[in-house]
Amino acid sequence: MADQYAQSGEDSRPTETPVIRWDEPPEGPVLVLLDQTRLPAEEVELVCTDASALVDAIRSLAVRGAPLLGIAGAYGVALAAARGFDVDEASRALAGARPTAVNLAYGVERARAAYLAGLAKVGDSKTAAAMALAAARALHQEDAEASTRMAAHGLALLDELLPGGGHRILTHCNTGSLVSGGEGTAFAVALAAHRQGRLRRLWVDETRPLLQGARLTAYEAARSGMAYTLLTDNAAGSLFSAGEVDAVLIGADRIAADGSVANKVGSYPLAVLARYHHVPFIVVAPVTTVDLETPDGAAIEVEQRPGHEVTEVTLPQAPVSGGGGGVPVAPLGTQAYNPAFDVTPPELVTAVVTEEGVVSPVTTEALAELVARSRRA
Ligand code: MRU
Repeated sequence: MADQYAQSGEDSRPTETPVIRWDEPPEGPVLVLLDQTRLPAEEVELVCTDASALVDAIRSLAVRGAPLLGIAGAYGVALAAARGFDVDEASRALAGARPTAVNLAYGVERARAAYLAGLAKVGDSKTAAAMALAAARALHQEDAEASTRMAAHGLALLDELLPGGGHRILTHCNTGSLVSGGEGTAFAVALAAHRQGRLRRLWVDETRPLLQGARLTAYEAARSGMAYTLLTDNAAGSLFSAGEVDAVLIGADRIAADGSVANKVGSYPLAVLARYHHVPFIVVAPVTTVDLETPDGAAIEVEQRPGHEVTEVTLPQAPVSGGGGGVPVAPLGTQAYNPAFDVTPPELVTAVVTEEGVVSPVTTEALAELVARSRRA
């Protein structure tokens, strides 16, 4: 297997186009998204003029990934407020657009609370809308800062667990600057290792069925100049058994109070493999992903997606109801099991890395203390 360290390329941004931006053309405020369903083929912007367009964009995965969903949800509330829509109705629709990533509901609630506080204080909906927008912008900025801090904590942990550098890291789904105000979660750690010459290779799971690994993580990795190799999800076992994986780094959509981690389907089998092969399994996520209201993994609602994503080889821009418009790979009428996420129990997680620091071992008490610390900060 090729084993050189790649040092060229410093561009952490996967695209020239901002992943999300607020704009105020003469016709009124809009939220502009980089349409992730079109990557890596083309960078196309999607303009949302109201919350319902954003709900559609969230459901179709034009905008996706836990931290970015939080940011988008907050801007969505600001958009509804600025355009004079019913903010409570828009908030409910946005928060319910996808169920698993807790960041979405968090972002929506944060902007909604700012709006309501504005209304209560000045009684003027224009000022209240401005306060919702300020809350969305603050969350966006905080997420960027959290990325930087997670990368630093994550790299320090890798160096501690794997002295000597030359890390060969396996990752799943997509966790870089396409999902964040900054450089992301798990991918930001790999990027930090790469920049310091300590990443030997990033193994990228293609992440069936919607191929966030092949389409998006490979895109980010290529732009950064790091050495990376794409594999089918079911090739991971042979990679472990060949001794080619030093650590697994993934993000999270929700971390329950007991430390159970919901992330893109296929994460749990990696955790089982990692334990069998004595390889650290590390989860990188901002504190906003920790949900103390959800007691355990069984209480996490896992999104079920349409069967055609499995029965057809399709890209996410295909219609999400009925036939997917992709190439059928199964007999017509075949039923499919298509959960978007799975849940990894805390005993398989070596560490949770957040901007507030590292939790290891992953216990209810340690997570509660982390959240309390971040609320005090
Ligand atoms: O269905 P997606 O593409 O929104 O799923 C994204 C993931 O599962 C990511 O791994 C997760 O949101 C963590 S991103 C930092």
